Amino acid sequence: MSTFWSGYIALLTLGTIVALFWLIFATRKGESAGTTDKTMGHSFDGIEEYDNPLPKWWFMLFIGTLLFGILYLVLYPGLGNWKGVLPGYENGWTQEKEWQREMDQAEQKYGPIFAKYASMSVEQLAQDEQALKMGSRLFANYCAICHGSDAKGSMGFPNLADHEWRWGGEPDAIKASILNGRIGAMPAWGQVIGEEGVANVAAYVRAELAGLPLPEGTQADLAAGKAVFAQNCVACHGAAGEGMAMLGAPKLTNPAGWIYGSSLAQLQQTIRHGRNGQMPAQQQYLGNDKVHLLAAYVYSLSQKPEQLARQ
Ligand code: HEC
Ligand code: HEC
Repeated sequence: MSTFWSGYIALLTLGTIVALFWLIFATRKGESAGTTDKTMGHSFDGIEEYDNPLPKWWFMLFIGTLLFGILYLVLYPGLGNWKGVLPGYENGWTQEKEWQREMDQAEQKYGPIFAKYASMSVEQLAQDEQALKMGSRLFANYCAICHGSDAKGSMGFPNLADHEWRWGGEPDAIKASILNGRIGAMPAWGQVIGEEGVANVAAYVRAELAGLPLPEGTQADLAAGKAVFAQNCVACHGAAGEGMAMLGAPKLTNPAGWIYGSSLAQLQQTIRHGRNGQMPAQQQYLGNDKVHLLAAYVYSLSQKPEQLARQ
């Protein structure tokens, strides 16, 4: 800040404080006279004001805040270029510097911990209680908003605590999903195969691949649906609907892993208009070390013995 503006701000601040002192003492008349029946002579909607002195506690509070203000301005930077007498603000105060200071402190505290964890494998970390605790906290902060606080997902967001993976459940695949993000590209088929084709292949996927019952009275030709599937879908979802992790094309034989619903209407919607689920890349945002911990936490969710037993 230039000397001029620094002086301007200091003058304005100190001037205001002096003016406030003047105000409080100048209007303190009648203090010793005690309460009075005299009114100020004005009336608002029939309400009048007595000409009484300020209550003592109020007066002291006012003086107290002014003194606090002065003390603060002596201790901390606030008056133009004045640095304050407390140590730590020699280079002046800005929000950015304060943030940097806190980041540096956090780095000093957590840096060595992250470094230690970075040198361990995802599998090792998945056994380390302390690491998982940190991972779960990171997950609550950065991932729960989409995947749910229990990581079990919801409509449009995959469950990360089960054994169904769109892009792969190996430690490396999970870490890559988080680091680089993923974009599911399911094309829209409505224009290509027509409404009848959509109805037939949706029924085929639901009844033959997923093994779910068709609602009564469903108008669909399963054989024709199978032909549509063979012609248009196997390239990504595989001949038997087993899916392809490289493309993030989900398995179509287990509806528990689907994220867009398994009703006939939802399947038709998916096939007619396509889907583009997006997992945002975290590398730039969280950095490698945090993602490493997150990968371990996510990996651990599908490794818990009680979950394995339940499958
Ligand atoms: C170019 C590759 C590709 C082709 C071809 C393709 N799909 Fe997909 N499909 C995907 C991908 C990738 C996803 C996941 C989209 C997402 O995650 O947003 C998907 C998702 C789906 C889903 C939703 C699963 C869920 O999680 O709810 C269904 C159902 C589906 N496809 C059926 C079909 C059918 C039927 C065809 C043929 C008419 C077909 N797909 C052709 C790549 C493909
Ligand atoms: C803005 C919402 C959003 C946020 C935030 C988000 N995700 Fe995702 N994530 C998704 C979606 C959507 C997909 C599915 C992408 C697709 O369609 O293939 C996904 C996919 C994944 C997958 C791959 C799942 C599979 O079956 O292969 C992993 C692993 C994952 N997310 C982990 C995380 C972690 C860890 C975080 C926190 C850093 C996170 N996600 C934050 C939306 C989100």
